Amino acid sequence: MSEPSSYRPEALIAEDIDAYLARHQHKSLLRFITCGSVDDGKSTLIGRLLYDSKMIFEDQLAALESDSKRVGTQGQEIDFALLVDGLAAEREQGITIDVAYRFFATEKRKFIVADTPGHEQYTRNMVTGASTADLAVILIDARKGVLTQTRRHSYLVHLLGIRNIVLAVNKMDLVGYSQDIFDTIVGEYRDFARTIGIDDFIAMPISGFKGDNITGPSSNTPWYGGPSLIAHLEDVPLDETADQARPFRMAVQWVNRPNLDFRGFSGLIASGTVARGDPVRVLPSGRTSTVARIVTLDGDLDRAVAGQSVTLTLSDEIDCSRGDVIAAADSPPQVADQFEATIIWMADEAMLPGRAYWLKIGAQTVSAQVQAPKYQVNVNTLEHLAAKTLELNAIGVANLSVDRGIVFEAYADNRDLGGFILIDRLTNATVAAGMLHFSLRRAQNVHWQAMDVTREAHAALKNQKPAVLWFTGLSGAGKSTIANLVEKKLARMNRHTFLLDGDNVRHGLNKDLGFTDADRVENIRRVGEVAKLMTDAGLIVITAFISPFRAERQMVRQMMAPGEFIEVHIDTPLAEAERRDVKGLYAKARAGQLKNFTGIDSPYEPPEEAEIHIDTTGLTPEQAADVIVERLLG
Ligand code: ADX
Repeated sequence: MSEPSSYRPEALIAEDIDAYLARHQHKSLLRFITCGSVDDGKSTLIGRLLYDSKMIFEDQLAALESDSKRVGTQGQEIDFALLVDGLAAEREQGITIDVAYRFFATEKRKFIVADTPGHEQYTRNMVTGASTADLAVILIDARKGVLTQTRRHSYLVHLLGIRNIVLAVNKMDLVGYSQDIFDTIVGEYRDFARTIGIDDFIAMPISGFKGDNITGPSSNTPWYGGPSLIAHLEDVPLDETADQARPFRMAVQWVNRPNLDFRGFSGLIASGTVARGDPVRVLPSGRTSTVARIVTLDGDLDRAVAGQSVTLTLSDEIDCSRGDVIAAADSPPQVADQFEATIIWMADEAMLPGRAYWLKIGAQTVSAQVQAPKYQVNVNTLEHLAAKTLELNAIGVANLSVDRGIVFEAYADNRDLGGFILIDRLTNATVAAGMLHFSLRRAQNVHWQAMDVTREAHAALKNQKPAVLWFTGLSGAGKSTIANLVEKKLARMNRHTFLLDGDNVRHGLNKDLGFTDADRVENIRRVGEVAKLMTDAGLIVITAFISPFRAERQMVRQMMAPGEFIEVHIDTPLAEAERRDVKGLYAKARAGQLKNFTGIDSPYEPPEEAEIHIDTTGLTPEQAADVIVERLLG
């Protein structure tokens, strides 16, 4: 800290944060978000809050004062915006989810403020910051009143379940502290807020620049009788208080088993209270037990409440693992595998309905597929629009299904058990955030029917081991030709087979699908399901589809029993496939008459570890078929 030359404000804050938080440990914590843009005075306001709470370190302050002089702020006033914008400039280097969290404290409370850019292209950042906030400060420039962005910010804040809203009408000094102007803005906001379900908010006339109504009442606004911003932040009841009144839920973060005599389940209590001797239920299994001990680093407790991290031991040896939820026995959350949800898309690449993503909710991670959106919301007008997919920063409502039952609650009731993220399975990047609305009733009413003639029985009757020979390769690579030869050879050997071919399936089952990325994903998903049913029937299935994406080939692989999926890469260089151009499609694509053609203007992701690799430039189709049959049966 004594080296101003290596001064990096964010690192500095991070380094000191532990010591800082320790000093303020006894105080309650309020997390809030400020919504607005630099034009609304957001940076100035945050700078002022940090300054007035003395959270600016002294050398930062010195730098700030000299910067202010340099940029020529008039008089003795410090330009607080410089403090915050200085940090912002540093962050602008391509970090995708860009949220700055700042810490400060007053005598009564400590605070974490999430600071995110306010423009529409930063929706995902705002969502990230708002997802953990208890309160939102919506900033309005008194000279401009309620703007499109005010509506957008309010909608997002409400969508993310923030119940405490402060409408901060800023820059009152520039409108002569006019009560009329303030009242008009508040009235207009109230009318709008009602339409999106915000019934309650507190409005304050402030000036971040001059300090009016920030730490105490301002003599410039004698007509305002409400609290100052800091006073309100200090006194507003925390969500935790409301959380404590709800039924007990704790997601198990890890199973703590240091030795054979101790098995505890550790996690953060999401809602309710728990006491020694309470009956609890472990979900999704539904098994019940009672709480034997509530263990913490500071010793055992008789009782613990929402917001506390604890380790529970149970009086019975029941199964309970990471991701499970321990809940009040008499009012447990639901378990389901199909839902309606709001999804906020955060990745540059659009959502692909039908693709398998990881879904992370609480401590549970499952595989999920999202259907095409029911609608998308225009975040500025709040209209519902038709949509086939969701692009970066788009918000939509869609049904989704997961591969096994998860413990959940509606997001409106419980953010921890209703909020989720979607993760790309190949890149591990977070691609979306979402909120569960409710489970689909069909999920509860459709059960798996056990059948007496099992897949083993089907296979035994045919005296063979079922398999899927999954051909992949460019159009014109020779997939259909070789697949056809393979099937003929197998049939001659009395094997029971079936060939699913791209061009044929697209005449029937999949005739509603074209060649966009989304349609190709759905094409492969359906073919995978059909191939799976056919292996259940005991068949050796041969599929001949371009299947250009690794993610979907991997998805089908995972649907099959271990060892049953055999990926066959029919590897023909693009130039060679184009030279052959059996169907004349490459010529058309080059001439611009055929869009989204694989290899030309649509990608092909070659397999990285196919079980069988066929280089068609070195083998005739007959030889290739021999190699494949030999590998399958030999
Ligand atoms: S996949 O990408 O969804 O797996 P699929 O194998 O079903 O494709 O269909 C590919 C066949 O459709 C090609 O062999 C070709 O005959 C025809 N086709 C028509 N338009 C296109 C296109 N834009 N891209 C690729 N193939 C196309």
